[in-house]
Amino acid sequence: MQSINVGILGLGTVGGGTAEVLRRNADVITRRCARQVQVTMASVRDASKSRSCDCDGVTLTEDPYSIVNSDEIDIVVELIGGETLAKELVLMAIANGKHVVTANKALIAVHGNEIFAAADAKGVSVSYEAAVAGGISIIKNLREGFAGNQIQSIAGIINGTGNFILTEMRDKGRTFEDVLAEAQELGYAEADPTFDVEGIDAAHKLAILAAISFGTPLQFDDVYTEGISKLDLVDVDYAQELGYRIKHLGIAKKTDSGLELRVHPTLIPKKRLLANVNGVMNAILVKGDAVGNTLHYGAGAGAEPTASAVVADIIDVARTCNASSEFKVPALGFQPESIKSIATKAPSEFECAYYLRFIVSDVAGVMSKLSAEFAEQDISIEGITQKEPEKGQNTVSVIFITQKTVEGALDRAVSKVESLDLVHGSAVKLRVEHLD
Ligand code: NAP
Ligand code: HSE
Repeated sequence: MQSINVGILGLGTVGGGTAEVLRRNADVITRRCARQVQVTMASVRDASKSRSCDCDGVTLTEDPYSIVNSDEIDIVVELIGGETLAKELVLMAIANGKHVVTANKALIAVHGNEIFAAADAKGVSVSYEAAVAGGISIIKNLREGFAGNQIQSIAGIINGTGNFILTEMRDKGRTFEDVLAEAQELGYAEADPTFDVEGIDAAHKLAILAAISFGTPLQFDDVYTEGISKLDLVDVDYAQELGYRIKHLGIAKKTDSGLELRVHPTLIPKKRLLANVNGVMNAILVKGDAVGNTLHYGAGAGAEPTASAVVADIIDVARTCNASSEFKVPALGFQPESIKSIATKAPSEFECAYYLRFIVSDVAGVMSKLSAEFAEQDISIEGITQKEPEKGQNTVSVIFITQKTVEGALDRAVSKVESLDLVHGSAVKLRVEHLD
């Protein structure tokens, strides 16, 4: 039986998990791909660190270039992260005729177009299932399972750290900082955790999902991005009272006037399955014209759930590496020559419902003044709630839930409301998705 030699760049959370799964499940993997898959080399930054995985039989090096340049290595598995060194190593591996597997969403979202072109030219594959939603095989589903569909929309919880933080804060009243520190300890968070909490990691993943759904190039710069760091717990509680949960969603929609690509905290009706996805779990709702709505659920981060996807990619490569390119699934699921850009909408063109919270003076007639500004912009209001004034205060919080409207019109109404004497400070604006 032929064997296939794997070199892993990076033996941290995901690299360690990958080495461990490949070793533990060697028999089942061999039966699935008719080849023995063996890790023969691995690189780390500091070889003196103790490792969670068994490195017996693996040549451990602090020189990642020795792996991408080794004649013995068939598949390079990039699990270092970041864009600079990772990009250089991946392009070098491709130039040396090696297949690449990576979990690096930043690398794929930002440099994927260039990397896939280089891989096509060289006739090697670049696989990246682990880059989106950890152990959920969403890339395979979109590129293969739903290949007969026109994908209409995607809405998903695609950052495990963010969902873990929101869940723990809501259910246990823990502080943001405390939960983030635990997510880092558990290996969920990115090396720079601002990627998780400011929505950048989710934007990387959404850019990938959108490209393989709609047949466009990767368009990371066009993703509107808001994180969870500025979310006020008061709004989490008010949303709950109104029958919603706040989740950080990545949303990609194909509309007649262009693509909406956005990641932001979102109110979802409590009864929706997505609203009940908690902790580090991810879930992605995909709507196709033939299949309708499908929901994909699983662990979004962590060593072995992510390794599960990395190993599946390695097995795919082991099975198909001798096949000609025409029999392989294209990197973005569409033939490269058919990929074309679709204009993306500006935030002022987004369409959805909105949650708005204003602090207003507790005097008669205030509600009708605010409502008049919304009526002037043709915005229908679904519901208005006035909270009790805080003890000793003469201001109250007023919450509006609008019907579906265009964001530009909503923003005009909000600035008019904010300029009223009776209104104090800026509004809190959150988007609402009913996910029908
Ligand atoms: P990690 O735990 O920080 O591991 C990074 C590994 O790369 C470590 O072994 C480190 O060596 C090595 N490394 C870092 N900088 C290096 C350098 N300059 N030169 C050589 N080696 C270097 O990261 P991770 O969480 O496994 O993430 C790896 C990739 O997977 C990232 O792209 C991440 O976005 C992605 N990912 C992570 C998860 C997750 O749940 N963690 C899930 C999906 C995707 P030392 O061990 O010696 O420090
Ligand atoms: N930091 C990422 C997350 C890892 O929390 O979702 C998985 O991509």
